[in-house]
Amino acid sequence: MVPYLKLNNGVTIPQLGFGVFQVPPEQTQAVVEDALEAGYRHIDTAAGYGNEAGVGAAIAASGISREELFVTTKLRNGEQGTAAEAFEASRQALGLDFIDLYLIHWPVPSQGLFLDAWRALEKIYAGGGVRAIGVSNFLQDHLDTLLAETTVVPAVNQIELHPTFQQAALSAGCRGHGIAVEAYSPLGRGSDLNVVAVTTLATKHAVTPAQIVLAWHLGAGNIAIPKTMHRHRMDENLAAADITISRDEIDTITALDSNARIGADPAKAAFTQM
Ligand SMILES: NC(=O)c1ccc[n+]([C@@H]2O[C@H](COP(=O)([O-])OP(=O)(O)OC[C@H]3O[C@@H](n4cnc5c(N)ncnc54)[C@H](OP(=O)(O)O)[C@@H]3O)[C@@H](O)[C@H]2O)c1
Repeated sequence: MVPYLKLNNGVTIPQLGFGVFQVPPEQTQAVVEDALEAGYRHIDTAAGYGNEAGVGAAIAASGISREELFVTTKLRNGEQGTAAEAFEASRQALGLDFIDLYLIHWPVPSQGLFLDAWRALEKIYAGGGVRAIGVSNFLQDHLDTLLAETTVVPAVNQIELHPTFQQAALSAGCRGHGIAVEAYSPLGRGSDLNVVAVTTLATKHAVTPAQIVLAWHLGAGNIAIPKTMHRHRMDENLAAADITISRDEIDTITALDSNARIGADPAKAAFTQM
């Protein structure tokens, strides 16, 4: 029921996944077991979330065949100079032979290391440790530098994207290079669920505001990775894959863009722990 998108190297990705940012490490196994039971087959974690081991334990306990699952993790900013070792540590924490998608978490332009990190990811990809490589939080100038200086075009750019913060020019720039747009904080961390246009459409379709927002992402061609700790919301969010909203309704949500960034600005973000 969840559609798949084909990435620029032919690998397919479930368009709706499950994010585990801020899921406490000691609760991650149980939360991801619930998500897998609900039907999610795409899990998004990161070294910086500190919960890769819990994701791996849930996968191992689930008995779901590896081929059915799509697992993303990300390179910590403070490890951009040692990406090969960081990748191996993530792979071990997850207990997996290979990762489906490995991302540079933030460009950290002040650090001047993302090109080195990307070349390391290219080697991991060539060696078969990962099925696709990509970036996260890359703005157009970071992408332009990467595309000019390196060989493999990123499969994905995972960026903050929700109705009130859409980064339309960046998304179009990504798509122009065959880079899939993956929306993080797809619900605006809950803040976009009270917007009148969203609640009005939810009432009209007899669904929830989260389902309208996720149906909008899917209709707009974004990959979306909502996070929730609650089983009923896991079911609710996944069921958005079965909801179709019209082109006019998609346009109504698209018109909500108001440059309301919630997370850090990738031009400036320089934290090393993430
Ligand atoms: N690459 C990056 O730099 C980056 C940055 C941020 C996030 N991400 C990824 O994107 C994922 C999602 O982003 P996010 O966690 O920031 O934001 P989000 O998914 O937009 O929103 C999560 C919030 O919405 C609530 N929620 C979820 N489903 C709901 C529903 N159906 N109805 C009402 N509230 C609902 C959750 O509460 P409960 O948990 O209490 O249900 C939580 O407070 C992360 O887990 C992570 O994988 C990546």
